[in-house]
Amino acid sequence: MNVLLIGGGGREHALAWALSASPLLTALHCAPGNPGIAEFATLAGFDVADHQAVIAYCRQNQITFVVVGPEAPLVAGLADDLSAAGIKVFGPSKAAAQLEGSKGFTKDLCREFNIPTAAYERFTEAGAAKDYVRRMGAPIVIKADGLAAGKGVVVAMTLDEALSAVDMMFDGGLGAAGASVVVEEFMIGEEASFFALCDGDHALALATAQDHKRVGDGDTGPNTGGMGAYSPAPVMTEAMVARTMAEIIRPTLEAMKAKGHPFKGVLFAGLMITAEGPKLIEYNCRFGDPECQVLMMRLKDDLLTLLLGSADRQLATMSARWYDDAALTVVMAANGYPGTPEKGTVIRGIDRARALDGVEVFHAGTAEKDGAIVASGGRVLAVTATGATVTEAQRKAYAAVDLIDWPGGFCRRDIGWQAVAREQAR
Ligand code: AMP
Ligand code: GLY
Repeated sequence: MNVLLIGGGGREHALAWALSASPLLTALHCAPGNPGIAEFATLAGFDVADHQAVIAYCRQNQITFVVVGPEAPLVAGLADDLSAAGIKVFGPSKAAAQLEGSKGFTKDLCREFNIPTAAYERFTEAGAAKDYVRRMGAPIVIKADGLAAGKGVVVAMTLDEALSAVDMMFDGGLGAAGASVVVEEFMIGEEASFFALCDGDHALALATAQDHKRVGDGDTGPNTGGMGAYSPAPVMTEAMVARTMAEIIRPTLEAMKAKGHPFKGVLFAGLMITAEGPKLIEYNCRFGDPECQVLMMRLKDDLLTLLLGSADRQLATMSARWYDDAALTVVMAANGYPGTPEKGTVIRGIDRARALDGVEVFHAGTAEKDGAIVASGGRVLAVTATGATVTEAQRKAYAAVDLIDWPGGFCRRDIGWQAVAREQAR
C-alpha cells in the first residue's frame, strides 16, 4: 500500500523509519518531511493546512492510508476531511482531538466520568480566577485552555506568580488560547508519558516513556517541547500500567463514545504518579516528540499493521510487543532555543554517529543546503540509542552525540538521570 505521512519533525522521522520496514508498504510519501525522512519517502510540497490539496495528492499518488503525526492538522479536522473523501486515516477526528485541543473539555470529561485528575475550576475572566487562586493558595497551576505550543502552563510556586500568570493569559499573552483558563491543584509525584493505541472501542497499551521538558541540566530553565526521553519509564510498573488502563484510558474511551466522539489514534496520557495512584495531567492526541523516537526503537511488531488496526477498528484481537532493551534519545537543539533559534549553521558527522551499533539519528529541524545539513528549527536532531539498561543506552547516545560536529547547537548532558540513579542504587 502507498502511505502518506504528515509532519516533518523527529517524531515523523522515527515513524517513517518504522513504517519503511513494513512488509505492507509499497511506497511512503511525506509532507513536508525533512532530509532524514527523504531517505525513506518521497517528499511532497503541498500545504498541509489545505485539506483539498492533501486529498488531491492522495488521489494522484494512489495513497490509501494517511498517518498524521502532529496535533495541529488533527485539531483542524484533517482526519474528518480525509475520511469524508474515502481515504483511510490514522488519527482522531476534530471532535475527538479536543482531548488535546481543549484542556477545559478534558477536565470536564474527567469530572463527569470520574477519571482521576487534579481538582480544578474553569474561568473566562481574570477577577474570578484570581479570587479562586487566592482562596486555594500556592503552589497552584494555571493553564490556557487552547493549544499554546507548550507554553500554556504555568506551575506557580507563589501566589504572586499565579496572579501574574492569570493576568498574562487574560491580557492576551498567549493569544486566543488564553481566552479561557483552567486553574488546578498542584499534584506531587513522578511524571510519566503513557501511550495507548485506540480504535474507538478498544485500547492497546503501548510503551511508557519519560520526557525532559526543561532546557537545562538538572531540570532547570524554561520549558521546551522536550529535550530528551527514555523508555520504559521505571515508575510505570506492570501494576501501574494496569491501573492506568483501568482507571484512565478505558474510561476515557467509554466517555468519548458516550459523547458521540469515539477516539481513534494514539492517546498520549501525561501522568502524575501520586501516592494515591496515577492521575491525568493532560492528554495529547498523537505520539510524543521525542517519546516517539524511543518507542519506535523498542517496537518489535510492524507499526503499519498496528496503525491500520486502529483505523480499521481491529485492535481487540491485536497485541504489540517490545524489546526488553531500554532506549534513550538526546535532543540536539540550535543555540537560542527555546527562544529564537539560530538558523543555517552547518552540522557535520551525522553519518559517523549513526554508524554506531544500536544508534539512530532522527532529523527534526534540518534542511539541506549545498550538499550540507544545516539547522532550520529549534529542535534539530534526536540522537537515539538502545542498551540493556538506561545507563548503557545513555552512554551510547552521548558517544554518538560526541561524534556530531555542530558548534551551532547544544544538548542536555543528563538525559535519563532519574533512571540512571535508580539503576546505580540497585
Ligand atoms: P502540560 O503542558 O500540561 O504537560 O504541563 C507542563 C508541565 O507542567 C507538566 O509536564 C508538569 O510538569 C507540570 N504540571 C501540569 N499540571 C500540573 C499539576 N496539576 N500539578 C503539578 N504539575 C503540573
Ligand atoms: N514531548 C512532549 C510532547 O510531545 O508533547
